[in-house]
Amino acid sequence: MLDKFGREIDYLRISVTGNCNLNCIYCTPDKSETSGANCRDYLTATEIGTVTAAMAKLGIKKVRITGGEPLLRPDLEEIIGNIATITGITEIAMTTNGIGLAERAEQLKSAGLKRVNISIDSLENDKFAWITGGGNLACVLKGIHSVVRTGLTPVHLNVVVIKGINDNEIDRFVELTRDNPVDVRFIELMPIGDFGRNYTDHVVFNRDIIAARPELQAVQDDSWKQPANYYRMSGYCGQIGFISPLSHKFCAFCNRIRLTCEGTLKPCLGDNQEIDLVPVLRHEPEKLEWYIQKAIFRKPASHHFEQSYVSKRNMAAIGG
Ligand code: 5AD
Repeated sequence: MLDKFGREIDYLRISVTGNCNLNCIYCTPDKSETSGANCRDYLTATEIGTVTAAMAKLGIKKVRITGGEPLLRPDLEEIIGNIATITGITEIAMTTNGIGLAERAEQLKSAGLKRVNISIDSLENDKFAWITGGGNLACVLKGIHSVVRTGLTPVHLNVVVIKGINDNEIDRFVELTRDNPVDVRFIELMPIGDFGRNYTDHVVFNRDIIAARPELQAVQDDSWKQPANYYRMSGYCGQIGFISPLSHKFCAFCNRIRLTCEGTLKPCLGDNQEIDLVPVLRHEPEKLEWYIQKAIFRKPASHHFEQSYVSKRNMAAIGG
């Protein structure tokens, strides 16, 4: 469907849980949102299927499963399996931290998953553990190898670049694309959650990374319309993507909406407006499409990151 600015909305991101087994410095979950007491129940696999089916009728074609960490849902295969049966859904992807992925890659593929993005912010064991609050780099690397082997491709590796922390590893990440069939994507830190409050101390702008590396060749396509601008090193296997939500605003071409794990619809990542679908879903499911349509119509023209916007929710609850 079209929103009021004429954008075709065909991409739904579904956060299936606010829980995470890591505790990344820029994504620190606010306990009030994600821990039991104050947290509403997460949508069930069946409910996620019902909402997605209503969305598909309205024109959603692509779905991305996010979290928190989606692999923490023991019923993730069921969630994906339900979505895979919905007419109109042509692609199911997932963003994960990769821990425990190696053990489930085959099952997830059989359920209908097509491709995976994996977050990896350092290639040094100690630093990785520090950024992620105790994560094990070897597990993530094992997960990456497993998805390449299983064919959950193209694999994207997401790197949030943080000044003074991992910006000295940029070239190492670029080198990963020399022989491996993976795309590395550098993401500019966004002012979300607690770390985001003084994010200007930490942000590294992608334009500076690109300017310092004239050997990067721009890949000619319609990337000005996409969140990521792609480059490559001559002769390398994989591409380098730059996601620059602040310096390269792609809102005019935004085609996405988000469903939070608690069943609210978030028309824009950089805007606090949310529409609660749960009462309708549980009591008047026949009105779901109408509600969603109304919510999509209200999608803002653009995010407010550059106007000192601070997200009420941490990334763990939104899913990126
Ligand atoms: N700024 C930029 N990227 C972020 N991510 C999580 N929090 C932030 C933030 N504040 C990234 C994760 C993941 C993707 C879904 O979003 O690293 O790769």
